[in-house]
Amino acid sequence: MDIRAWAPGRVNLIGEHTDYSGGLVLPMAIDLGTEVAGNLVDGRIRLRSTDQAQPVDLTLPIADPTNIEPRWGRYVAGVASELAVETGIDGVVESDLPAGAGLSSSAALEVAVALALGAGDEYTPARIAVVAQRAEHVATGVPCGVMDQLASACGVAGHALRIDCATFAVTPVPVPDDARIVVIHSGQERQLADSAYAARRRQVEDAIAVVGDLRRVTVADLDAVPDDLTRRRARHVVSENARVDAFATCLVAGDLAAAGELMGESHTSLRDDFEVSTDVLDDLVAHLTTIDGVFGARLTGAGFGGCVVVLCRPDVDPVPSGHRGWTVRPAAGASLR
Ligand code: GLA
Repeated sequence: MDIRAWAPGRVNLIGEHTDYSGGLVLPMAIDLGTEVAGNLVDGRIRLRSTDQAQPVDLTLPIADPTNIEPRWGRYVAGVASELAVETGIDGVVESDLPAGAGLSSSAALEVAVALALGAGDEYTPARIAVVAQRAEHVATGVPCGVMDQLASACGVAGHALRIDCATFAVTPVPVPDDARIVVIHSGQERQLADSAYAARRRQVEDAIAVVGDLRRVTVADLDAVPDDLTRRRARHVVSENARVDAFATCLVAGDLAAAGELMGESHTSLRDDFEVSTDVLDDLVAHLTTIDGVFGARLTGAGFGGCVVVLCRPDVDPVPSGHRGWTVRPAAGASLR
């Protein structure tokens, strides 16, 4: 094999629905990811996946990535089209990331494909993340932010990442050894997530049109927003940005109890002000926070179903029976192997 590229998935510890307004997020790259391995070939991309029935077979350069079949090929085509490559790859995609588990398997695929296609020679990890984000927009039509791709491209072993999505400044924040991080699937598949996500993004933009950059205002300044719904959306973003820095301070101090409190506050804000939680997620979070040794839990990712992230003591297994769960560790970002 000429090329072997690996990119991790991610879990977001705190800082939800803040990336697309240039806010703060605190994800970490995890020790589960996706590998693209193969030989360089002129004018084509041929990839089979150990998880997908249909292989992807593309001719380069790619004119329009939006209608490629099978659908997973749209992520690959989106990246190839953004990079405008004419040399492709013939090989295999292999992943130990569970699909649909909120661990950003699509971001891992995009970033691994970008590296396999040589993006690392020309671009910084942050720039690769932007290429991968654009591919995600093309592949799914969802106007996602850049958090997932940045976490995958910029991960640091043993650390979460405080990312300023306005400047793309990435500050590694050590995850204490006595912290266990577990992602639990709620059992509820995401509902109407694509259109609801785009609607939230528009509502945040509506708030910015009234009060300006949400990084520069306080919750009190939001009284100037006349519409109640818009004001609540903005209040989530402003308070969540503050929670990211408070959480990072708690991690550095090793104060996991205080970090867990902030996770609870984040969940409440996502539930009441941003309205991206569901009864199933709320019940799961409420149950988890009653377990001895659990510091905190909250929905993670876009919401509307999907997963929660739990911070607990290493000796605690918080996964309720009948649920799928994964203990994840902070890992390095994407690389050629
Ligand atoms: C999804 C998007 C991210 C981010 C989160 C919410 O994971 O891909 O860009 O907006 O939702 O925090």
